[in-house]
Amino acid sequence: ETSSFSILRRPELFDFHGVSMTNPFTDNWDNVQNFKARPDDIVIATYPKAGTTWVSYIIDLLYFGHMGPARQTSIPLHDRVPFLELYVPFLPSGTDLADKLPTTPRLIKTHLPVQFVPKSFWEQRCRVVYVARNAKDNAVSYFHFERMNSGMPEPGDWSTFLQDFMEGKKVFGSWYDHVNGWWEKKQTHSNFHYMFYEDLIEDYEKEIERLCSFLGVSPSAEEKERVRVSVTFDNMKQNNMTNYSTVPVMNQEVSPFMRKGKVGDWKNHFTVAQNEQFDEDYKKKMKNPDLKFRCEI
Ligand code: A3P
Repeated sequence: ETSSFSILRRPELFDFHGVSMTNPFTDNWDNVQNFKARPDDIVIATYPKAGTTWVSYIIDLLYFGHMGPARQTSIPLHDRVPFLELYVPFLPSGTDLADKLPTTPRLIKTHLPVQFVPKSFWEQRCRVVYVARNAKDNAVSYFHFERMNSGMPEPGDWSTFLQDFMEGKKVFGSWYDHVNGWWEKKQTHSNFHYMFYEDLIEDYEKEIERLCSFLGVSPSAEEKERVRVSVTFDNMKQNNMTNYSTVPVMNQEVSPFMRKGKVGDWKNHFTVAQNEQFDEDYKKKMKNPDLKFRCEI
């Protein structure tokens, strides 16, 4: 009842402990910070638009695919994999959804920069899967997402959006800080799997092997094949449980949630000048030689 979020207009971006945020992701702050993790929880962490839904669905199927079609056809993925910090009127909060999940292990999605994650996840030594996507495609995807989602701030035109993205003035803050912050956390938290959208596009089988070995699951060849078919871009786009068609703030006619699913679509958006400026700025912000992204495959 204290929420300042309105469903009638787009939320404003504001500075929250040094990170650009909006009310739907800060209004439940105490419950998020005090969230009680369980040792077998699996955290799926990403900067928005890095492939969260894809990886969430893969992990959901690896654990619960055997539960039969009823679950797969009646429960939207966003209810199976609660979005921890989401708090909007008329919907159960992410923390409540997570607390009430009937299945184990719990899969919990978050877009929080690493310094905002509830400390219980670290204390309980939960498994963390972080998915990262190259900055250029990530920015393009985020631009179209803000256009179609009235629960997000106005993106403005592409050049305005890109400038804001470079300055970290996007919900959940700077992409650069996000991918670097979580990368550094990986060095001290052993239960950590850092994966790249581009790798999953390029060699799905290999990435699934690595993911399964991290999670400690060994699906049969048949199960693996079932997962592979279910999580193709085309099938997820058709699937009402994964394409967000059930979410009213998203106008899929402006831009579908399942938009392109490609590496390199940035080339259709960046001008030569924008690309040069972006690369120049990127070099200054991305100093860690171990963290490398691929903008094409
Ligand atoms: P595009 O906008 O580039 O198409 P998130 O789930 O983090 O919001 O990320 C959404 C992005 O992941 C979108 O990118 C979407 O199309 C892409 N995506 C979702 N499922 C995918 C799949 N099965 N294969 C490839 N890309 C997928």
